Amino acid sequence: MKNFNITAKIQIYSYDELNPEEKNLIEHAKIACSRAYAPYSQFQVGAAVLLANGEIVTGSNQENVAFPSGLCAERTALFYANSQYPDYAVKSLAVAAFTQGDFIDRPISPCGACRQVVLETELRFQSPVRILLYGKSEIYSIEGIKDLLPLAFNSIK
Ligand code: THU
Repeated sequence: MKNFNITAKIQIYSYDELNPEEKNLIEHAKIACSRAYAPYSQFQVGAAVLLANGEIVTGSNQENVAFPSGLCAERTALFYANSQYPDYAVKSLAVAAFTQGDFIDRPISPCGACRQVVLETELRFQSPVRILLYGKSEIYSIEGIKDLLPLAFNSIK
């Protein structure tokens, strides 16, 4: 028997330690929370995507009475970005969440389906997607999806 250990690199920042571009992307994600449609969970998530042309596009979770028909903020933003700007790589993705009258204290992390879509975006543009997960107390910074989705399925060849 052999062991195969996987490690993930996640850097933790305070808001004040971020540079202006990072703060700006997070602010876009926070504003996007206000456009969520989350009557069932009351958990409003916003995502902001920075593209290689400098454009920022946002998305929010859009729920449905038939639960699986809804979509997370991350995929809403990524699919919108890729459908509006198919020629520009996604450089970074910021995520924020608002519930019970305030932004969450510690970051949430994207669900498995969203991680798979981030991976597809990286493969499509051959470029890592930097991920910033916002919480009031701390911000997680992740260099690319490999640290959130190890041993990913990424080939049908
Ligand atoms: N949600 C997101 O939009 N992104 C995440 O990273 C986690 C969860 C949404 C799905 C659902 O609308 C609500 O948050 C509660 O799970």
